[in-house]
Amino acid sequence: MTTKNITTTPTELAWLGYCRAGFERDLGIELQERLGGEIIEAEENAGFVRVSCSTGRAKFHASVHDFIFARQLLLTCDSVVALTSNDRVNPIFEALTIFLVAQGIDHVVDCRVEYPDTNHGKALSRSAKAIEPRLRELFGEAGMLAGHTKYRAMVFLTPDKRAYIGVADMHLSAEDPLGIPRFRMPADAPSRSTLKLAEAIHVFLGSGQDEALQPDMRAVDLGAAPGGWTWQLMQRGLRITAVDNASLKGDLVDNAMVKHLRADGFKYTPNIPVDWLVCDMVEQPARIAKLVAKWLASGWARYAIFNLKLPMKKRNEEVERCRQIIGEALDEAGKSYILQFKQLYHDREEVTGFVMLPSRKERFAHNVAARDKPANTSRGGQKKIGRETNGTMGVKGAKGVSETKRPPKPASSGKTGPGTLVQTKPVLNLNSTLPRAAASPWSVKPLPKRKKAK
Ligand SMILES: C[S@@+](CC[C@H](N)C(=O)[O-])C[C@H]1O[C@@H](n2cnc3c(N)ncnc32)[C@H](O)[C@@H]1O
Repeated sequence: MTTKNITTTPTELAWLGYCRAGFERDLGIELQERLGGEIIEAEENAGFVRVSCSTGRAKFHASVHDFIFARQLLLTCDSVVALTSNDRVNPIFEALTIFLVAQGIDHVVDCRVEYPDTNHGKALSRSAKAIEPRLRELFGEAGMLAGHTKYRAMVFLTPDKRAYIGVADMHLSAEDPLGIPRFRMPADAPSRSTLKLAEAIHVFLGSGQDEALQPDMRAVDLGAAPGGWTWQLMQRGLRITAVDNASLKGDLVDNAMVKHLRADGFKYTPNIPVDWLVCDMVEQPARIAKLVAKWLASGWARYAIFNLKLPMKKRNEEVERCRQIIGEALDEAGKSYILQFKQLYHDREEVTGFVMLPSRKERFAHNVAARDKPANTSRGGQKKIGRETNGTMGVKGAKGVSETKRPPKPASSGKTGPGTLVQTKPVLNLNSTLPRAAASPWSVKPLPKRKKAK
């Protein structure tokens, strides 16, 4: 992939997506395929990508939640401010206001100054912290700050002293600074890997997590040792069968909530169906996808979160292959499903997958209207979530623990929560407003229509 120099035509719009360093190519391809622009900047290990955005199209149609490799997605223009003079704030403010007004935006909620999540990028955090409040002040003085708008002014600093100016639609962008949800490591979790599952639950289930993860539900954790994921589920009151030839650690040993089986995760089958399958075995992605597909198609579990360790090349293709494996198996089994992939902050050379077989109640509660898509497409005739969704998944209003079921006390000291989210927001956004050049990481197959009673 070539890196082009940036043009300075102020009228040209470009998407700016943040990603894990090393995944620029993958995000670039994803943005390009789905948004239809040209990749104009995708330098290896830069931690961000820019893809042109045709001004003729609806501007704020892409949601960061629709992209596997994107942490954040902004609309920027090509007027780049060179940060060479002593005064960095006024030139940025001037360029920002011109850009915003040109987009028909009179007010913003606030202004954020960010930078790439790379070693070079992190060196810009002090500058960002210095510039951000001063820009806010200027917006305030200009009467441009208001609570009623959905836009946030964005500035993205790069290590080579440029500042991209842009805007984020708060409904379609990540709320967390740099698009990174921060979790505190629980002191008594057996591995840092616990944060990965905590993040996956936060990202995929959002405010629906209390409904989807209820005390006394049953889970199977394939490749469980040393136990970070099992610990995470245990903290939420689930009973877990942890399958791994290696040993569990800490609180999980001799714990009434956890049954440790030294067995092969590919051969293990549950005696009775469980609610959850989680799987963190290091294996070929397609093998994991087939395993997950088998579990859900056979009705052994209703929800699954799993990790796909990606190859160095053709990662998009590999994820797509796994999506097809799961989609086709569930289609064949006549199951309705929601399927999503996302590279989480805690994922390294991997992505995390989520599958859910929603009940009628869940489908109804969320008014998930799947759009018809011709059968036999490259995506196995799956149908996608429509725009009528309410932005989060799980059962609405299902906050807290059900009154009839009390959570069994976890055997741990209980001093730490299951990975405390430092900044919270309802994250999962099924509100896919994207005109789809290609399919979204969200795939939903609708339930068969209920026959009317005669
Ligand atoms: C990345 S670690 C899992 C970490 C775990 N999720 C945690 O939070 O602590 C992968 C685990 O998968 C296990 N594993 C790999 N292949 C397996 C198999 N075929 N059956 C069962 N476990 C397997 C390994 O023994 C290893 O403990």
